[in-house]
Amino acid sequence: MLENEKEICNCNMIEEFMNKIFKTYLPEKDNLIQILNEVQDEFGYIPKTAQEKISEFLKIPMAEIYGVITFYSRFTLEPKGKYTISVCLGTACYVKGSQKIMDRLKERLKIEPGQTTEDGMFSIDQTRCVGACGLAPVFTVNGEVYGKATVKKLDEVLDRIKIRRIRGLGFGDGFKILIIKNRDFKPVPESLF
Ligand code: FES
Repeated sequence: MLENEKEICNCNMIEEFMNKIFKTYLPEKDNLIQILNEVQDEFGYIPKTAQEKISEFLKIPMAEIYGVITFYSRFTLEPKGKYTISVCLGTACYVKGSQKIMDRLKERLKIEPGQTTEDGMFSIDQTRCVGACGLAPVFTVNGEVYGKATVKKLDEVLDRIKIRRIRGLGFGDGFKILIIKNRDFKPVPESLF
């Protein structure tokens, strides 16, 4: 078990969850991806404890499970931040300047792609294409697409997340119609985002 995992995860909770989902699957290798999907959705990453349980259940070596997790970008071995911001560096987005957005994101959060801020708030990812090339350049926040992106738009999104955090608000409905102007929240058209 990783040292930092002890601090972050509740291993009993993971074992409980694994035992619960194992009741819904046959112990067949073909079920590996689906089980990993469930774990990723539940915990935001694939904890070592879950890998061990899957290995026992499906009788697959740990190395093979590790290989699958690292092959698919959807799966992660580290806990993700509350907000995962992913910049598309696929061709259409790259030629429209998405590298500048990535550079600004790294500068603002002081982390690299694949890392999470110390406060557990933000993670950075990079993707190759999210299927929204017509809106290039694109970044996503927890899977929500922000098209025709600019560094300014990224700054606005980061600022709004931080302010909503201070106010104890989530990133749910209504988020997109809030913007800070003269220190007040003002409604803005959805099309701005
Ligand atoms: S290349 Fe970025 S969405 Fe397709």
